Amino acid sequence: MKVLILGGYGAMAQSTVPDLLASPGVERVGIAGRNAAKAKAFAAAARDDRATAVTVDARDSAALIRELRRWDCVINSTWYDLNVPTMEAAIEAGIHYCDLGGLYHQTLRQLKLDARAKDAGVTCVLGIGSTPGTMNVMAIHGASKLDKVHKVLLRSSGAVVAGGEPGKFVPPYAIRTIFDEFSLDAPILRDGKIRFVPALSGLERSEFMSPVGVVEGYYTIHSELATMPETIGKGVQEMDFIVAFPPAFRETVATLVRLGLASREEILVEGTKVRPYDVTSTAIDALPKPKEPELDVDIQRCVLVGEKDGDSVTLRYEAVTWPHKKWKVGGGVVDTGVPPSIAAQWMANGSVKRK
Ligand SMILES: NC(=O)c1ccc[n+]([C@@H]2O[C@H](COP(=O)([O-])OP(=O)(O)OC[C@H]3O[C@@H](n4cnc5c(N)ncnc54)[C@H](OP(=O)(O)O)[C@@H]3O)[C@@H](O)[C@H]2O)c1
Repeated sequence: MKVLILGGYGAMAQSTVPDLLASPGVERVGIAGRNAAKAKAFAAAARDDRATAVTVDARDSAALIRELRRWDCVINSTWYDLNVPTMEAAIEAGIHYCDLGGLYHQTLRQLKLDARAKDAGVTCVLGIGSTPGTMNVMAIHGASKLDKVHKVLLRSSGAVVAGGEPGKFVPPYAIRTIFDEFSLDAPILRDGKIRFVPALSGLERSEFMSPVGVVEGYYTIHSELATMPETIGKGVQEMDFIVAFPPAFRETVATLVRLGLASREEILVEGTKVRPYDVTSTAIDALPKPKEPELDVDIQRCVLVGEKDGDSVTLRYEAVTWPHKKWKVGGGVVDTGVPPSIAAQWMANGSVKRK
């Protein structure tokens, strides 16, 4: 099977690529992005003839469709606002597709492509990272054990356990997504209906295993809420997603958002129109990296409150991912980048039959 990773030298792909190369039946792994030099360097670093550098811009749909026709499946590991055009290109090219989540609104737009994907005979898996991804798998597994589900609590946190450098600002994943998580209203399910609340509201203290400990979390927009109320069903009335980043990180991002430096509204700077969102993201991406990368432990928790045989039941699932020593990446990269590798293999080898 031949799998292309769009965004193949990005942060999350640092575990997708080695996992695919370590899996049976994988003939070729495409490492794609807009920068030829970065794609080539990353492919060369894999020290495996099957790793192939590909230069393509996901915004150039004709070029993307031409490229996708050479592959069995594409893993979209770019920024989430490229999900719709990339999924459309995959359907047009007739290949399977998966991505790492669409921050609710993109996911709803993508679900509208269902009939087109079915007609093309391809499978599209939306949001198969850690959260969304493993979180949804834990939830549906738990729900399958219950007769009724009243409430589903989705919680995510983590802690740096090695590497890093004091004073260095290191976003754990695409800063563009984090800006949107910190600024867009967050969907929550109450009385069986979605409503929106301000980002970072709903402060909640919760305790995770060491070294994470007690953290303060808050609502952020996430795409689990776009699909899980329906996939879980069973009368679910209440669902929300709460994340807890380290306090200093949260403070810095919240300040950038408050100052308008993460706004998508264009402003005029000396006669040139720019979006602060693009400028600040690009500046942060270019910041010097710590000599030793920050390695984290990442935790996803899913709690279901419901009923079985007339008894009240609470089920709690926890996915804890530690750094990968050989790949030299943190738990947050492992638990996000490996699930799409597995999904791509299952789609390409025919294990996933549903379109
Ligand atoms: N589900 C989860 O658990 C989870 C967790 C973390 C992150 N995520 C999501 O995963 C996605 C990737 O995150 P990340 O941290 O890996 O981001 P990243 O490090 O910024 O990587 C994104 C990659 O996409 C490439 N790219 C951007 N625009 C492109 C275009 N027009 N055409 C082709 N390639 C393009 C970039 O390379 P060039 O700019 O050089 O082209 C870059 O290599 C984000 O959407 C993030 O929200 C999901």
